[in-house]
Amino acid sequence: MRLDWTNLRTFAVTFGLGAFLAGCPSKTTTSEKDKAAPPDKPGDKAATPDKAGGGQVEVFSWWTGPGEQEGLDAMIADFKKKNPGVEVINAAVSGGAGTNAKAILANRLQTGNPPDSYQRHAGLELSDDIKAGKVEDLAAMYASEGWKDKMPKGLLDAITVDGKIYSVPVNIHRANLIWFVPKTLQGLGIAGPPKDWKEFLAQAETIKGKGKTPLAVGPQWTQKHLLETVLLGELGPDKYTGLWNGKTDWASAEVTGALDTFKKVLSFSDIRSAAADWQPAADRVLDGTAVYTVMGDWLDGYLKGAKKLAFKTDYDVAASPGSAGIYDFLSDSFTLPVGAKHHDEAVKWLKECASTEGQDLFNPQKGSVPARTDADKSKYKDYLASALKDWQDPATKIVGSLTHGVVANNAVGAEVDTALGLLLAGGDSKGFADAVAKALAANK
Ligand code: GAL
Repeated sequence: MRLDWTNLRTFAVTFGLGAFLAGCPSKTTTSEKDKAAPPDKPGDKAATPDKAGGGQVEVFSWWTGPGEQEGLDAMIADFKKKNPGVEVINAAVSGGAGTNAKAILANRLQTGNPPDSYQRHAGLELSDDIKAGKVEDLAAMYASEGWKDKMPKGLLDAITVDGKIYSVPVNIHRANLIWFVPKTLQGLGIAGPPKDWKEFLAQAETIKGKGKTPLAVGPQWTQKHLLETVLLGELGPDKYTGLWNGKTDWASAEVTGALDTFKKVLSFSDIRSAAADWQPAADRVLDGTAVYTVMGDWLDGYLKGAKKLAFKTDYDVAASPGSAGIYDFLSDSFTLPVGAKHHDEAVKWLKECASTEGQDLFNPQKGSVPARTDADKSKYKDYLASALKDWQDPATKIVGSLTHGVVANNAVGAEVDTALGLLLAGGDSKGFADAVAKALAANK
């Protein structure tokens, strides 16, 4: 059965993985065998025995770059304050959207050498680990710590199967945003960011005519991220969601048309020279070489935190074209892998992730809003104040991110990557649509 990702906050429609995974074997308890450490490997820092009364915890993520690392560092500092003597091994692997980290993690899980806690997106990305029995059920912790009442029910449903809860969400990010520098627009005589993709294409002609790049992009994952926002803007929230739950026909003219629009949008980008990651793409907008970039709100962490820029004057942001009033969401969450070598310290780390202090230290720097509903609103300023307001506004329509693991599991995500590679190499929209429809059918 496919999931319906609509109405996350109003809870009118099931968000959870339960139905998707019904009948799949999943580990629910931690046996002594599960807890036993796999054999030490030379050079594996995490395999060092716990220090008496201290111990260590290996935390795995992909938050290494400017704007990513600062938030994690803040949470680690708070953890150390609360748990003096516990050493934190920050095992972050660089590469936006976890492009490198996910491959390394897959290998570690496969070989029975998990980190003590690792980052996973809430939603179908987590479902693979649950199905494979790789992550522990945290429901008892949720009950004893009283977390269930502190997180939106729809979000909890996205990490729950059969009443078992498999991760701890630390934030909510928004993917559907277009970023720009106000004075660049003024200099070009452009009144404001494009309201839809048709307007973007019209603006792009003008921008190109004046010798600038209309849209800065980074590596392929950023192009996939762009694709999801074009599909969302062109099809609207219900049909976008329908792409992933089987209700929207990939073979329809509307979908092919949206994919054609994506190709046109990309033709106004610097895809040929794009290298490195999402930060350098943003840098080209800052230096005025390029005018727009489409990226999630971790970019706010980069611009405001790492770059120390002022919101509204040095940079500004709007909903990506055609997606006003819609929150294309994703949530970073942390797990307790079966076989974690430092189980008890990992539990302490998860408590940090779920805490109001941890979330309110992490998110303002990360460019995300808290997963908890009772966080301190005064900590969220400028862009984040408006993000929090939009996230909590009952009129906002919520959809789930493709690129960041909400609406597609890893197998579907990988098939989309392959199909996108072919599309970018000159393939046609119909071929892409057929390939994705096939991947979805095979992963029902
Ligand atoms: C996402 C992740 C964000 C941010 C982004 C860019 O997948 O959820 O927290 O790290 O990648 O790296």
